[in-house]
Amino acid sequence: MKNTVVTFKEAKVRNEKLTMLTAYDYSMAKIIDGAGINGILVGDSLGMVCLGYEDTLSVTMEDIIHHTKAVSRGAKNSLIVADMPFMSYQTSIYDSVVNAGRLIKEGRAQVVKLEGGVEVCDKIEAIVKASIPVMAHIGLTPQSVNAFGGFKVQGKSEEAARKLIEDAKAVEKAGAFAVVLECVPAKLADIITKEINIPTIGIGAGVNCDGQILVYQDMLGMFNDFTPKFVKKYANVGEIMNMAFRKYIDEVRDGVFPEEAHTFKISDEVLEKLY
Ligand code: KIV
Repeated sequence: MKNTVVTFKEAKVRNEKLTMLTAYDYSMAKIIDGAGINGILVGDSLGMVCLGYEDTLSVTMEDIIHHTKAVSRGAKNSLIVADMPFMSYQTSIYDSVVNAGRLIKEGRAQVVKLEGGVEVCDKIEAIVKASIPVMAHIGLTPQSVNAFGGFKVQGKSEEAARKLIEDAKAVEKAGAFAVVLECVPAKLADIITKEINIPTIGIGAGVNCDGQILVYQDMLGMFNDFTPKFVKKYANVGEIMNMAFRKYIDEVRDGVFPEEAHTFKISDEVLEKLY
């Protein structure tokens, strides 16, 4: 069954948890989709986990479109969410609608995600008016890393907590169908989840959000440059890959691979004619 924005809205009403992971290519999208996930985010985290940047700021529209195309070819049942990269919507309402449209038309995403609260509500409204569903993202919004002075938990003071509640209500009012809460104290995320009618998707926001999202390289143990506190490693795939690569290198060097089963044959009759 294809997941849609309606699936997300109904899950909140039914008190059913939503599951999301990131993906950036066809093969991984196919595996994650096949496991039965509700949504796949082509996150601008691709800048860090796929392209090796130290933050998400250099990710371009072309990067996200390129990866969203691959993911949308691999995932058939998940809701595909494409991240709007830094400066693709902050500049103007016009840019935000044009760029959101490109992620749908060229990338074949069904939904776009953008970061920010009250200050981006005019953009959310305009994109939603263009019939493009928007997932909002508040709390730690990595595109504001320079404004925050680092990747830090948000909403810890009374003022900051009130601002986050206000942001959540504002993005809901602007028409967002769901909102990501990143690095928000669990009890505050719980309050926000109860105060709004759209699903909250948590990452580092505790168990009471309506759903959860993780970056797949983090949860599979494939990205070890740093590991945020909120990551649970469900497997150590990086280590398994390392072992497989080492074995391959050894076998090639020792002449063990390729074996008979991996080689193609030519008839003796043809061979003889070659001498
Ligand atoms: O880019 C991303 O992967 C994200 C998630 C961490 C929510 O925005």
